[in-house]
Order: sequence, then C-alpha cells, then structure tokens
Amino acid sequence: FKNSAVITLIIFSFGEFNHRDTPDNNPDVPFEFTEENKNRIEAIISMYPEGHKQAATIPVLDLAQRQHGWLPISAMNKVAEVLEIPPMRVYEVATFYTMFLRQPVGKYFIQICTTTPCMLCNSDSILDAIQNKLGIKVGETTPDKMFSLIEVECLGACVNAPMVQINDNYYEDLTPKDIEDIIDELKAGRVPPPGPRSGRFSCEPAGGLTSLTEPPKGPGFGVRADL
Ligand code: FES
Repeated sequence: FKNSAVITLIIFSFGEFNHRDTPDNNPDVPFEFTEENKNRIEAIISMYPEGHKQAATIPVLDLAQRQHGWLPISAMNKVAEVLEIPPMRVYEVATFYTMFLRQPVGKYFIQICTTTPCMLCNSDSILDAIQNKLGIKVGETTPDKMFSLIEVECLGACVNAPMVQINDNYYEDLTPKDIEDIIDELKAGRVPPPGPRSGRFSCEPAGGLTSLTEPPKGPGFGVRADL
C-alpha cells in the first residue's frame, strides 16, 4: 500500500471501519518495539516451527497494542516486517478481532456484552447505566479520554451474565448500581477487584448446589446383589 492508499476494511470495531491516513495514523509515523518486547517476540516466534512465523501474528499484535495503547497502521506494518509476511496478512487479523484497537481509546476501555444470555439477564440496564453515568454512547470516548465504550458479542462468561470487560478485567453478575460503583472507583484512581459482584466466588450455581450435595456412595451402589 502507498501512503495515500485508503484501505477499506469493513468489520465491526471501535471507531471507523475504514483506515484513512491521518497525521497521527499513517505508514510514515515511526513505530519500533522496545528492546524488552523484541526479546519477547523472539521467544514467541521460537515456539513455532521454522517457516511458520505467521502463527505468531496474534501474540505479536497484542504486544504492539500493549506497548502503544492501540494499533496504528505503522505498528501493524512493523508486525508484518518482524514476521516477514505481507502487511495484508496482519490487517486481516487486526480487523477481525474486536480486541485489536485501530483507533485510540480511553484509559479504561469498557466492552459490554449484549449477546443473548447477557441480554436475557438485562444487559440493557447495564448499558443504560454506563451511558447515563459517562454521558457517552457506544463507540464514543469521554472528553477527558478516561473511558471508551463498545458493545461486543459473547465474552465467554455467560454463566455470570450480565458482565462487562474493562481493560483486562471481567466484572460479572452486575446490577446497574454495581457498574456505577465500578466507574466511580476507576474515576477515583482505584481498580476494583474483578469477578462476580453477587457474592459468588466464581461460576457456581447462583442458588446453591443442585447436585453432588452428599458424599459419593462408593463402588457397588445400586448394583443388583446377585451380581
Ligand atoms: S453472552 Fe455475555 S458473556 Fe456470553
């Protein structure tokens, strides 16, 4: 791609679907991995057989994003260079997964799941609470660049629905008050402990055990006496 090229990538993601060169995000903006991350990349690549560096695309993109905060096109191009693959192979991956951010986001990136199990547990009320509390809609960032909000598909924590992911943490079994408290904590500079807010330790049944409630009977239980 030439600098002036417009790369059309139609996919669900934070911000615009398409890449358009801007002063802050174009192939001429320098991007280099830190020495520490270069060592990490070497270790990651060494896990794959010779000739299969492309397999490291996702972890190396993740490193680039963690280093920079988001993935400008020059970071994607650097990943392609390091893995010795065409840039398009990297764009294909970076545009497919909502975890890769091709636009800058706020310090706290809130991903709310609204897929069926969360929706049935009233994720709409959580979404409303976030939007009202922060004064932003899905796809927007607060003016102070503290919070960004995106709606995502199932994050794999359905048994603890409704839930949100904020940066690397899952907050589960939420009520509107819970999410408001979490946002207040973050605003105050504290990161609340992740996990369920309902008092559950993990994903055990919310109403208590329904099976395996007594000690096992042992070998032979229920077997005919003449056998
Ligand atoms: S549906 Fe929300 S985590 Fe699966």
